[in-house]
Amino acid sequence: TYVIAQPCVDVKDRACVEECPVDCIYEGERSLYIHPDECVDCGACEPVCPVEAIYYEDDVPEEWETYTSVNADFFDDLGSPGGAARTGALDYDHQYIADLPPQNQ
Ligand code: F3S
Ligand code: F3S
Repeated sequence: TYVIAQPCVDVKDRACVEECPVDCIYEGERSLYIHPDECVDCGACEPVCPVEAIYYEDDVPEEWETYTSVNADFFDDLGSPGGAARTGALDYDHQYIADLPPQNQ
């Protein structure tokens, strides 16, 4: 899977969403999250993010390695909706993201 890391927080450019062929990039309040089971590893999202927030799971920078589980655990309660269009933008975040101070101020 691919992983969205810290640069997305409080930025949410959403260019990645337009590229994903399986609509597996879900929007939270402060960040977006890639569904690890729905992502087909096409890689289309990675180059379009203007802040380089997206990484293949093996390439996530060490400082952001916790984001691999942050993306996955975001779906603990949601399960596998089968497309972000089915949930729309969600008004909450993974607790790790919710606890971050404001980014990019
Ligand atoms: Fe975030 Fe980059 Fe997508 S800022 S919403 S990961 S294009
Ligand atoms: Fe979609 Fe990116 Fe995965 S475009 S299928 S989230 S690699």
